[in-house]
Amino acid sequence: MSENLTIVDHPLVQHKLTLMRDAGASTALFRQLLREISQLLAYETTRGLALTAKSINTPIEPMDAPVLAGKKLALISILRAGNGLLDGVLELIPSARVGFVGLYRDEATLKPVQYYFKVPHTLEDRLVIAVDPMLATGNSSVAAIDLLKEAGARNIRFMCLLAAPEGVARMNEAHPDVPIITAAVDRQLNEKGYIVPGLGDAGDRMFGTK
Ligand code: URA
Repeated sequence: MSENLTIVDHPLVQHKLTLMRDAGASTALFRQLLREISQLLAYETTRGLALTAKSINTPIEPMDAPVLAGKKLALISILRAGNGLLDGVLELIPSARVGFVGLYRDEATLKPVQYYFKVPHTLEDRLVIAVDPMLATGNSSVAAIDLLKEAGARNIRFMCLLAAPEGVARMNEAHPDVPIITAAVDRQLNEKGYIVPGLGDAGDRMFGTK
């Protein structure tokens, strides 16, 4: 598959994903696992962040020690399921700035329509990590990245739990500059746009709405 795709094949990620896929997993367990897995995915998503040196004093002697360089990064949750990934990542990067993109699908045109957009200022100077658990058709992800670019974002990464080959292809075509980080790429989409074998509706499973 594309160079811009990273599949996090760490055994802990794969194990937790299997537990999440199981239809018998409770809402509480699903949410807990999503929080844990989001931190492992974020570890990979933030690999390669720029570092600079800071002078500190250890109890033994002064040293120049590495710290993250540049502006605080921006985490963008694609509503509503993105919030399930956001919480865990925020625990790992508590000083990150946070934004939200809300899109719904117009049933007549089948195109994503924006209903909410609130993002941190000066996106151009930040690493922007957009989070959404399921990269299915890619339509809403592509539309969300379009909006982030219009708002000035230049350095964007897309972090998801599960992807379909169709969604990866669509994202790579529309936004070849945006790396995708995921735990797995499943076989295909079904006629309703669900990822197969997948894990069902991520939003419903994490919020218990079905
Ligand atoms: N969104 C979901 O929550 N699940 C899918 O399988 C596809 C899109």
